[in-house]
Amino acid sequence: MDVEALEREAQGAVAAASTRVALDEARVRYLGRKSQLKQALRGVRDRESGMTLNAARERLEAAFAAREADLDRAELDRALTEDTVDVTLPGEEFARGHLHLLTQMRREIEDTFLGLGYEVFDGPEVEEVSYNFDALNTPEGHPSRSPVDTFYVSDDVVLRTHTSPGQIRYMEAHEPPVYMVSLGRCYRRDTPDPTHTPTFHQVEGLAVDRTITLADLKGTLLYLARVLFGEERDVRVRTSFFPFTEPSAEFDVSCFLCSGRGCNVCKWSGWIEMGGCGVVDPNVFAHVGYDSERWSGFAFGLGIDRIAMLRHGVPDLRLHWENDLRYLEQF
Ligand code: PHE
Repeated sequence: MDVEALEREAQGAVAAASTRVALDEARVRYLGRKSQLKQALRGVRDRESGMTLNAARERLEAAFAAREADLDRAELDRALTEDTVDVTLPGEEFARGHLHLLTQMRREIEDTFLGLGYEVFDGPEVEEVSYNFDALNTPEGHPSRSPVDTFYVSDDVVLRTHTSPGQIRYMEAHEPPVYMVSLGRCYRRDTPDPTHTPTFHQVEGLAVDRTITLADLKGTLLYLARVLFGEERDVRVRTSFFPFTEPSAEFDVSCFLCSGRGCNVCKWSGWIEMGGCGVVDPNVFAHVGYDSERWSGFAFGLGIDRIAMLRHGVPDLRLHWENDLRYLEQF
């Protein structure tokens, strides 16, 4: 084999390769496992021809490496001078999350009451029976205390069935006057269906001051109803019963869809039920050491899930727990 001729030919191929692809092809041809040179090296028997072949191999490897570096540098120079970025091309869209509908509603209600000078207070979801029922004037044997309706963690601990125990916790820790809202999860042993989920959300409101009357309560509820359902809304209260308010009432908002004419959202009554409310019962004040001769107050509570359902025409409350993006992305 003529090593010199072979080396000359290979050096020529290195010089002629003008791209990385061509150079790699030449490298395989002249230095690859099946190249003449490698095969000759494998068959070497004497020291002298071994040294000759190895020296040729080393020179060729160096030539390939040098040429490779030249080509890379040239390519970089070209890219830097020729390649341009068209900044007017549309960018790649990337998916962006947002708050869950119920969180949005929660924040909206919080903001509304912060604007009225209320404080936002968080109560525990795992609550003592004494706060969830006793302090709220709900006697032993009251149907709402039954384990059929309430999740008991132990004999004296439950998952709170409403946000009302927050009233007690807040009043125990603060002297009047009080302007407080408390929002969060509540739990009741309901079988899930389109209008019930065992976990749901409530807003609790409590105001205690020198001259609080039912008129203040109604004005506050009217304000909330208008924030949630629009400026044209009206509110009415109907007498009802809760152990922790006296008198007690349920409050309705005039239907935002039909404005009172009657439709399937308001079940042809013109009114939509929002929640419960009333004047704080003196027994509740006595429990937290407030003097009911000096202070009076109102409280109200309503379900956020239901409000969201009505406002947005949600057909099934269970959608709020399924995390189906096709649903969530609509809000
Ligand atoms: N806690 C009551 C409920 O869950 C609502 C309510 C709150 C009623 C405050 C009156 C005053 O049904």
